[in-house]
Amino acid sequence: MKNSSVYDCGILPLNKIHNRAGNITIVEGGVNLPFEIQRIYYLYDIPGGEDRGGHAHKELRQLIVAASGSFDVILDDGKVKRTVSLNRPYQGLLIVPGIWRELTNFSSGSVCLVLASMEYDELDYIRDYNNYLNYKGNGSK
Ligand code: TYD
Repeated sequence: MKNSSVYDCGILPLNKIHNRAGNITIVEGGVNLPFEIQRIYYLYDIPGGEDRGGHAHKELRQLIVAASGSFDVILDDGKVKRTVSLNRPYQGLLIVPGIWRELTNFSSGSVCLVLASMEYDELDYIRDYNNYLNYKGNGSK
């Protein structure tokens, strides 16, 4: 999505069923998540000071959850940058297509859970920031 903005992304509150034995949060594609889930992956054992992401997707929609610990997601639409801190397993960050993102400030032992709308496709990635700006129509040429 070429004309998407960081303001199209946001926190999706999730349910939390609480009892003495702990909590459970349920995410169902098309029910409390506005897309069907085709793929789940998670980042873990992230060394201190490491950053992830540094790319955009043309079509992929994602929900990013700090399943454990905390980290920051820097969203960038080529014009505006916005940092969202995730630190609660019952909140997800919805990222629409066409947003450059970087993940940073991972706490020790954190787990970044990602629910994704499509199967893995390297052709859906934009990994070069200048290419991204051109894609968004903000390039220098
Ligand atoms: P990448 O999406 O670049 O990681 P991050 O955004 O977390 O820094 O993926 C890292 C590597 O893993 C890259 O070589 C592609 C591979 N990969 C898959 O094969 N399938 C997947 O579903 C994902 C997310 C990544």
